[in-house]
Amino acid sequence: MTKNGNKISIVGAGQVGQATAQMLARENFCNEIALIGRKEGVPQGAALDIRHAIPLYDSDTAIYGYHDYAALCDSHVVVVTAGYPRKPGMSRADLLDTNKPIIEEVVANIVKYAPQAFIIVITNPVDVLTYYAWRASGWDRNRIIGLSCVLDSARMVSLIAHKTGCSPKEISALVIGGHGDSMVPLPRFSRINGIPLDVFLTKQDVVEIIRATRQAGSEIVALKGTSGYVAAAASIVTMLDAIINNRNHILPCVAVLAGEYALENMALGVPALIGGEGVQKIIELPLNEEETTAFLRSAAEVREILQCGNV
Ligand code: 2OP
Repeated sequence: MTKNGNKISIVGAGQVGQATAQMLARENFCNEIALIGRKEGVPQGAALDIRHAIPLYDSDTAIYGYHDYAALCDSHVVVVTAGYPRKPGMSRADLLDTNKPIIEEVVANIVKYAPQAFIIVITNPVDVLTYYAWRASGWDRNRIIGLSCVLDSARMVSLIAHKTGCSPKEISALVIGGHGDSMVPLPRFSRINGIPLDVFLTKQDVVEIIRATRQAGSEIVALKGTSGYVAAAASIVTMLDAIINNRNHILPCVAVLAGEYALENMALGVPALIGGEGVQKIIELPLNEEETTAFLRSAAEVREILQCGNV
């Protein structure tokens, strides 16, 4: 990877933040990682541990741990993982009251210390908190992106690979909508090496894969007692690569809508062209009636959560 003098900051030194820092250090596509967290010693200790691994990676990325937002200075991208994860039985929306003020504090400091940065929001409920982050920043909407459907789509690929026995490398799957139980897996827009899924899967198989995709995050929470973080971190690195290396990838991300899909004043998971300018174009899919109904139902669910936060 070419080095481009870029600094990536990660706010939140919990499991997602640490895993993202570790994967990012191995990718070696930024010069510096700043891991910022609250717990005494944790960001510094995690950074030290990753620094010890770097000689064994093909990497020379520098990584440091901090408690102070001032460490955000000169960030090209800021990844926001700060906030509370789900516990068993909780929905992502249940985290709104605790996590909204955290996001607003973090974004105020990003605006103060890294006014030129892009922001990737991870904290749940991510669709609503991406919108609040954009509103709090006052920036152009292309610079604020949320992690949702890159992770959900990866989970759908994993389920299709498991069911068909085909290599996940040859499978593309697309999930859009809210990052919750109403998310919209799109089998019609998913392929195995260009071949439609119905060549490999029965209608019942597809129904089960849609259900399992929607429940994948909650299944991990039920098993582990808290959210997953490995696939989330890998999804974040995919989004960072698209921005930092100007890849012009089509990725399903949470983007602020201003009329796309006839929606506005909200953020939602949609396919977007992601490159050096962040969300460069939102792709409006030719959804059929069933897909449109599911997408608008998911949008209505996100808007309901958004209105709860407007108090
Ligand atoms: C997940 O689905 C944390 O929302 C994230 O695992």
